[in-house]
Amino acid sequence: MTDANAVRRGLDGVVADTTAISMVNEATNSLLYRGYPVQELARHCSFEEVAYLIWHGELPDEQALRAFESQERGLRELPAELSSILGDLPTTCHPMDVIRTAVSCLGAFDPREDDNDAAANLDKSINLMAKLPTIVAAEQRRRHGKTPVAPRSDLGFAENFLNMCFDESPTPETVHALDVSLILYAEHSFNASTFAARVVISTLSDIYSAIVGAIGALKGPLHGGANEAVMRMFDEIGTADRVDAWLDEMFASRRVVMGFGHRVYKHGDSRVPTMHEALMEIAKHHDSDDLIALYDRLQRAMFERKAIHPNLDFPSGPAYHLMGFDTAIFTPIFVISRITGWTAHVMEQLAHNSLIRPLSSYVGPEQRGVVPVSERA
Ligand code: COA
Repeated sequence: MTDANAVRRGLDGVVADTTAISMVNEATNSLLYRGYPVQELARHCSFEEVAYLIWHGELPDEQALRAFESQERGLRELPAELSSILGDLPTTCHPMDVIRTAVSCLGAFDPREDDNDAAANLDKSINLMAKLPTIVAAEQRRRHGKTPVAPRSDLGFAENFLNMCFDESPTPETVHALDVSLILYAEHSFNASTFAARVVISTLSDIYSAIVGAIGALKGPLHGGANEAVMRMFDEIGTADRVDAWLDEMFASRRVVMGFGHRVYKHGDSRVPTMHEALMEIAKHHDSDDLIALYDRLQRAMFERKAIHPNLDFPSGPAYHLMGFDTAIFTPIFVISRITGWTAHVMEQLAHNSLIRPLSSYVGPEQRGVVPVSERA
């Protein structure tokens, strides 16, 4: 392909492969995991059930769910060598750097790292799901000079994570809101980080390398970093009465407003109403009137002035803030959830692999001869 007109910048509109994991429907702005609408999954299922669904293609029955939960709960502890390495990293780096390093180390410690058999990769995926919350919680505490809280095998996934972060029993509405957000963030077809994972594994590398690539892609503010950027934007605006003047400045300098817009959903993100509901539920239990007034005003003003809808990061940013997380930990929480989708895509790519290697349209100099350095002007 040498025709510059055929280039699709950002692969916008390009169908790169098939997937049976999730369907993002542009026409209806809906999202299905293995055929189930994500809103229904958030209403009726736990994150553990959704993880099982994403990996196995079907929701578990009671017995399969208990077996899966017990396997995940048994894998939550970190190897001492890993905690030691992570403890030596500077607290000035972004927590996503720590999470990326942690996954890389888990690969280096795993004697089955290069075993790309489907069963081996499913085991590694469950191990990553179980250990990532322990890693992220330890990092949230390390930044405050606190020692880690050990995982508890008597608690569900979301409750255990909150308990490890804050060393106290979370309220039921906090556990519910976190669980909902984990379900909504779990999978989203060929988004940038998932595609990065598929590119890496398509070379027949290993699942840890693929996830390290995905974490690097997720860190960016145009992708997973947006939930964190939303909260920094709230801090910058300050109060609801400043929203319009702040937007004037943003539009004048042609800057994007974080948490709004989407490459695929142009008429609203179907995950937003569910997360909005969860945010409002926890907001009731906190002193949050000013935060919610700012949230409401910004959402209304973006629609009135630009007709742009919020994406999932818009309600999840303030929800994580009210749960007590540091802003820099928001994107690592996204990792805890998306590890399920990423690893499912790695396994799907391996099952029907074709090296991902697109073409480019060359726009550099015409072919020319090399002049020895002594003869160059
Ligand atoms: N704030 C202000 N303007 C925005 C906007 C936003 N968040 N999102 C889109 N727009 C504008 C674009 O600048 C463009 O304006 P123009 O036609 O005058 O150039 C127009 O809306 C159409 O945007 P489009 O090109 O269709 O968006 P995209 O598909 O290239 O970009 C995003 C999608 C997600 C990268 C973009 O919306 C964005 O940067 N959002 C903020 C970051 C974010 O929340 N990311 C998380 C995504 S889940």
